[in-house]
Amino acid sequence: MKGLAGKWVVVTGGSSGIGAAALARFADEGCTVTDLSRHPSPGGIACDVGDLTQVAAAFREIGVPDVVINNAGVSFRHLALEITSVEWQQVLQTNLTGVFNVAQVAGRRMLEAGGGVIINVASTNALVGHPHYAGYNATKAAVLALTRTLALEWAPSVRVNAVCPGYVMTPMQEAEYSPEMIAAVNAMIPLGRHARPDELAALLAFLACDEAAYMTGSTIVMDGGETAGGLASR
Ligand SMILES: NC(=O)c1ccc[n+]([C@@H]2O[C@H](COP(=O)([O-])OP(=O)(O)OC[C@H]3O[C@@H](n4cnc5c(N)ncnc54)[C@H](O)[C@@H]3O)[C@@H](O)[C@H]2O)c1
Repeated sequence: MKGLAGKWVVVTGGSSGIGAAALARFADEGCTVTDLSRHPSPGGIACDVGDLTQVAAAFREIGVPDVVINNAGVSFRHLALEITSVEWQQVLQTNLTGVFNVAQVAGRRMLEAGGGVIINVASTNALVGHPHYAGYNATKAAVLALTRTLALEWAPSVRVNAVCPGYVMTPMQEAEYSPEMIAAVNAMIPLGRHARPDELAALLAFLACDEAAYMTGSTIVMDGGETAGGLASR
């Protein structure tokens, strides 16, 4: 990807799933990569993105990143009537406040330095309703609104985009879906399978590179066709 070699890339939640694939892909592109996670991979920085003090301390250590992938996220599979207030707060704190904290701290540094790229990992759950995930869905929809707002406020120097993965085979997914549930989902996805984390990482690398220089405020869906159809397609 053009212009990525030598860039400093920070990935939140880089110790697992999509984040781990992103760290590997950006390292392959010749970037210096840093993982910012609750339980970071070796060499990463331990940080709860929902805690602004920890995020500010982590970026004092990092300096000015060129690219930030705002990927850390949590989910609980519960019907709306069963979501506890602790779960609700935890999902909002990581998936929404965490994305804002990291964007604000990194964005301030990028603006002072004259440029940068932020990519927020939302979900197709931001676009269509999914039972069992009321809090998660609400945070992901909010991330899209936040992305558009930051893109406007920080143009032209800092680009801010969002990606909406559909079903991706990661530890998060395997923790909540049995093999039977995964097979049933695959049967409904037009491309017939979950995405691999490295496929998401390729999209993140493209959005971060110089060939995406005219993209900001965008939401890119990678979902194997999951949200392409309505009722008539089922
Ligand atoms: N797997 C999917 O099907 C799917 C689909 C759409 C969107 N997403 C989104 O992609 C992102 C990555 O998901 P994944 O499936 O790779 O999940 P995962 O559970 O495999 O990894 C999540 C990562 O986030 C980190 N993390 C969680 N809470 C944190 C916090 N408060 N502070 C710092 N780090 C924290 C974890 O340590 C881990 O490294 C999430 O935002 C998720 O919502 C996943």
